[in-house]
Amino acid sequence: MTQSGSENVDEALTSTRAFRRKLDLTRPVERDVLEECLNVATHAPTGSNRQAWQFVVIDDHDTKNAVAQFYRKGFADNIAGRTPTPDQRVELESAAYLAEHLHEVPALVLACQRGRLPEDASAKQLAGFYGSVYPAVWSFMVALRSRSIGSSITTAHLTYEREVAEILGIPYDEVTQVALLPVGYLKPVAGGRSRRKPAPLHWNSWGSDC
Ligand SMILES: Cc1cc2nc3c(=O)[nH]c(=O)nc-3n(C[C@H](O)[C@H](O)[C@H](O)COP(=O)(O)O)c2cc1C
Repeated sequence: MTQSGSENVDEALTSTRAFRRKLDLTRPVERDVLEECLNVATHAPTGSNRQAWQFVVIDDHDTKNAVAQFYRKGFADNIAGRTPTPDQRVELESAAYLAEHLHEVPALVLACQRGRLPEDASAKQLAGFYGSVYPAVWSFMVALRSRSIGSSITTAHLTYEREVAEILGIPYDEVTQVALLPVGYLKPVAGGRSRRKPAPLHWNSWGSDC
């Protein structure tokens, strides 16, 4: 890859963030653009190349409304009794904004995976299952971002996964919902890198820095 190629990729990866307040709620996202980005996403890796993902795109007003109601319930469950630190407060306010406006977001993309793990799934099963769909979720977000479209991974509605499955006609026993992504064009001032702490790095053995 050329230098400018790697710079472009780095730029896309570091500027893809959880966009909530910056989503333009008034501008529809074209179906062909969503399909293009989902097509990019399906080049992500999966265990044994199973490619067991499925996506439900919700752009119908009433259906978004119905799903958003369960998202809000799940979000309320998540934050109940939590006292955020000052750092977390901004994040929480942004998440609360999204919960309040979810039904207004132009499209909701629900990432699913065929199959359902047992309640007592092992770490290996969990890694194989979720690790075979989250790379596609992230690729989708990056593909959107490179087209000035924002999104965010969300899981708040999953407490009510069964209810949302019923709304959307998803066979609950055969298909697991893994993330709901609100998708919208970005308002003009939505640039900038995501902020991250440096990841602890160990060379050759845990705790060693050389
Ligand atoms: C597994 C997972 C679940 C998440 N669930 C939610 C959610 O339910 N609601 C929400 O608003 N954000 C959710 N997020 C978004 C995170 O809060 C966000 O990615 C993180 O705070 C970093 O934000 P930034 O990329 O803008 O810096 C989730 C992210 C991940 C990876």
